[in-house]
Amino acid sequence: MPSAILTQTLTKQYGSLTALSDFGLEVEQGSIFGLLGPNGAGKTTLIRILTTLMRQTSGEAFVEGFDTRTQGREIRRLIGVVPQENSLDRYLTARENLELHARLHGMEARHYRARIDELLELMGLAGRQKDFPDTFSGGMQRRLVVTRALLPSPRVLFLDEPTTGLDPQSRRAVWDYVRSIAGSMTIFLTTHYLEEAEQLCDRIAIMDHGRLVALGSTQELKDRLTGGTAYQIEFEQGAEGYAELLKGMACVRGVEVTDRTVCVELEQWECLSEVLAALNGAPVRRISLRERTLEDVFISLTGTGVRE
Ligand SMILES: Nc1ncnc2c1ncn2[C@@H]1O[C@H](COP(=O)(O)OP(=O)(O)OP(=O)(O)O)[C@@H](O)[C@H]1O
Ligand SMILES: [Mg+2]
Repeated sequence: MPSAILTQTLTKQYGSLTALSDFGLEVEQGSIFGLLGPNGAGKTTLIRILTTLMRQTSGEAFVEGFDTRTQGREIRRLIGVVPQENSLDRYLTARENLELHARLHGMEARHYRARIDELLELMGLAGRQKDFPDTFSGGMQRRLVVTRALLPSPRVLFLDEPTTGLDPQSRRAVWDYVRSIAGSMTIFLTTHYLEEAEQLCDRIAIMDHGRLVALGSTQELKDRLTGGTAYQIEFEQGAEGYAELLKGMACVRGVEVTDRTVCVELEQWECLSEVLAALNGAPVRRISLRERTLEDVFISLTGTGVRE
């Protein structure tokens, strides 16, 4: 069984700019794979190559075993794509947009009619199917583009920021749908919502400046954050003073104060008793463990600088 997606030493140059560099990745069939990275990291570039909209400069990429350089036709037959920018035909109604797409994919009317009905219902667009996309809100347009990609039941579905601009309800509807179809198809998505990646994806890749910087399950990525455990300590008063006291302790790696709460990062959890001893008699209201999030991993790997 070939991998759903396989790339080896994949490189893309835009003139002198290297958008993808020596990029290697493997995605198992039937999995939900998340690609994360700051603006300009190269995510859309990778999707464009995999969906045969653009050619790599060097290296190899395969979708279900088909080579992106020589077997574009085979690949296009088995993929669905939600591009980063909505690309709807403004002179066709929502339903006509879907019908045109179905026909371009060689579907017969008796097959696509029922499927369009089903998907429009599911995406909450049934009532607006006779309207033109320009009269839709941004979130509704996005849902229509997702609906369109799902229409031919692709083997591999590429979603470039599928939920950007969606309200929490619509985002959840997309997640639920993605979960319900997972297994029957491979889903490759990019997102800037790290919570979304955490909730949905079996495996996650983090990239930056065209390179792969980390790969694994959410848990594996979190485990990469070496040592250290962080606690939040809320004080009745005097948080600033206690923060100073904690800063001076050998086992304390970092201290941050927000209002009455001090976030203290320890070398290891065994230091907690030492910290508690130092705070003996202090007006502590609450202590809680600060769980690591995917965002902590993301920031630790890609830094805090805003990209151009
Ligand atoms: N057609 C193009 N011509 C020249 N440079 C390009 C082109 N498309 C993208 N780039 C550059 O390649 C780099 C990667 O862009 P890409 O769109 O792949 O990033 P991205 O990870 O999808 O970012 P975002 O999160 O903002 O969507 C950026 O530096 C971008 O400016
Ligand atoms: Mg992009």
